[in-house]
Amino acid sequence: MPDKSLSALIIGASRGLGLALVEEYLRRGWHVVATVRGQSKTALHDLQVKYSESLEIETVDIVAQDQVDALRDRLAGRTFDLLFVNAGVTNDPDERIGDVSTDEFIRVMVTNALSPMRLIETLDGLVSSSGTIGVMSSGLGSVADNEQGGWEVYRGSKAALNTFMRSYAARQRGHRAHVIIAPGWVRTDMGGPHATLSIEESIPRVVDTISAQSGKPGLKYLDYTGRNVRW
Ligand SMILES: NC(=O)c1ccc[n+]([C@@H]2O[C@H](COP(=O)([O-])OP(=O)(O)OC[C@H]3O[C@@H](n4cnc5c(N)ncnc54)[C@H](OP(=O)(O)O)[C@@H]3O)[C@@H](O)[C@H]2O)c1
Repeated sequence: MPDKSLSALIIGASRGLGLALVEEYLRRGWHVVATVRGQSKTALHDLQVKYSESLEIETVDIVAQDQVDALRDRLAGRTFDLLFVNAGVTNDPDERIGDVSTDEFIRVMVTNALSPMRLIETLDGLVSSSGTIGVMSSGLGSVADNEQGGWEVYRGSKAALNTFMRSYAARQRGHRAHVIIAPGWVRTDMGGPHATLSIEESIPRVVDTISAQSGKPGLKYLDYTGRNVRW
């Protein structure tokens, strides 16, 4: 049964998996505040035509802390059942760690590992005491499962994100659930046309997986089918 009282704040929703996450929560009757970067019109704005009552669009570039602070100030007084950080980038997946430029390394690490955590630290006061905080990681972030190599810098950034989430969750003393999601290899701008899953095969199950953790304090690293991923 849709429950109008549930609300989500989803960060990085202009396209791809973030956009699909927003649409899935709206379909399930949630109220969603979702963010894009900058002022350009995106597919999220098209979605708002259909969901004008239940979708609010905000702007934030997660690497710009002044924008994250401003978002917190604009949302002050609101309470969300879910804060989910989807935003992420990759570099050339074939680029080896010894070859990547320092600037590119910093761009990927700061966007994928540092910025989601800074955003969570800044906005977690907006999440209800029994709510859920989640991040979009990747199966490539698993250190234990890295037997094939490849995507070296991206992998490192998601492994770092996972570790930072563990540190964050370890110092929480409340009742919130924390989830790290591996959505599978999905056909998006980032996943490319040869990825094994369509967005429709991944995202509804991601939402089921996040929902199943609701009310369960602690931290889980889960794939889109709800299975534990090895750290
Ligand atoms: N697709 C896959 O197979 C796959 C697999 C595992 C994990 N993931 C993860 O899933 C997430 C979404 O991936 P996707 O495939 O949907 O990628 P995508 O199509 O490239 O979309 C990336 C999204 O992140 C946003 N973003 C990037 N940098 C940002 C920043 N600094 N501030 C705010 N938003 C920012 C983008 O906004 P703009 O439109 O403004 O650029 C866009 O909405 C990422 O974290 C990715 O690492 C994807």
